[in-house]
Amino acid sequence: MKVLIIGSGGREHAFAHALRQSPSLTELYAAPGNAGILEQARAAAIDPADHDAVAAFCARVGIDLVIVGPEAPLVAGLADDLRAAGVDVLGPSGAAAELEGSKAFVKQLAFDNDIPTAASETHSTAHAALNALDRFELPLVVKADGLAAGKGVIIAQSRAEAEAAIHACFDGVFGDAGSRVVIEAFLTGEEISCFALCDGTEYRWLGSAQDHKRVGEGDTGPNTGGMGAYTPAPCLTPALEAEVRRSIIEPTLHAMAQAGTPFQGILFAGIMLTATGPQLLEYNVRFGDPEAQVILPRLGEGALDLFHAAATGRLAEVDASIRMDDRHALTVVMATEGYPGSYAKGSALRLPEDPSGDHVIIFHAGTKREGQDLLAHGGRVLSVTGMGDSLREAQARAYAAVNSIHWPEGFFRRDIGWRALPADPD
Ligand code: AMP
Ligand code: GLY
Repeated sequence: MKVLIIGSGGREHAFAHALRQSPSLTELYAAPGNAGILEQARAAAIDPADHDAVAAFCARVGIDLVIVGPEAPLVAGLADDLRAAGVDVLGPSGAAAELEGSKAFVKQLAFDNDIPTAASETHSTAHAALNALDRFELPLVVKADGLAAGKGVIIAQSRAEAEAAIHACFDGVFGDAGSRVVIEAFLTGEEISCFALCDGTEYRWLGSAQDHKRVGEGDTGPNTGGMGAYTPAPCLTPALEAEVRRSIIEPTLHAMAQAGTPFQGILFAGIMLTATGPQLLEYNVRFGDPEAQVILPRLGEGALDLFHAAATGRLAEVDASIRMDDRHALTVVMATEGYPGSYAKGSALRLPEDPSGDHVIIFHAGTKREGQDLLAHGGRVLSVTGMGDSLREAQARAYAAVNSIHWPEGFFRRDIGWRALPADPD
């Protein structure tokens, strides 16, 4: 099978790496890719925002499957346009991508289908949103409805902060994303992410993960795209997993299919494990980055067959024959000094020749090759994954590999996994 990957981050490198393990892969292309992806795939000289150009490329080269990594092209309808041109895609339609594109849509879906989630109200004027504040206790959460690059959620500790957040939304700080706001009750508990590969009707559980969104050790400092992650999330017991599937994932997929907008692709559920049970925080319609870098390596050589089956509505046929590796995995993100603020591009990286068999994988995120040199070309630059029979072993392998990388201009957190691994090694 010939596959095209859309995207350029660590997540897309993890897709490329997983596909390279699959015997059914014949050719791999990426648009635009990064230095690591382009060691495993050929560059497709197309702009992913130009859907006609992507479809024409697929027809010319004979692409059997397109895998779309990030959310923006999905919300923009890339999967619809490719399917209309007869190309199979792993990724939801624009209508089904509303699960990520509109928080108000998700709250309505949860409300209509008795899916546990925080109490909320959606408003389209500042006046109505400000009035709603009286009906919530502090702290409360103000969310811009649409895609806001991870910045549209404000946890307000005081009434003044809540009012400021509402004004920011309606003053256009988040662009169109803020033309409606969701006011939501604040939930407490352990936060986890769950992943399901969906074909429109059937789904396959890909596992759980926890990430570290803050830039600083001890989960302090500004938010980032994610500084590290591990799988599985130890707090998700088998009983809680069954509850997440039954009370959140399955009714969502059922409701989407009933509405005529079946969800096909990777469903990423953000869940809070509260004292009264799992509650839905949000959906994303794609893999997490860096969560993909811990979950995808566990798919082994069945990855491509599974993705293709999901993209063509045949998950039930292949499902039982493919087993996931049940090792633990942990990834440490290496970022350019300054991230998530401003940072310089172009510093040189030196990676070890062979990091260590199948226990360690160095995924590239923001990298670029110039001649023989490998250069940092983004905020998050590498994502180094270790695998092991325990989380501690996975962590030790990941950090041993991180320490073998020469990159003075980079930094990383030394405590990835701390919530799951108390600071007491013996
Ligand atoms: P979201 O983009 O909706 O996942 O929100 C980003 C982050 O804000 C989540 O990962 C949570 O850590 C936090 N958050 C969102 N909604 C709530 C809530 N209702 N209660 C507590 N924390 C929340
Ligand atoms: N790591 C969180 C995300 O990809 O949204």
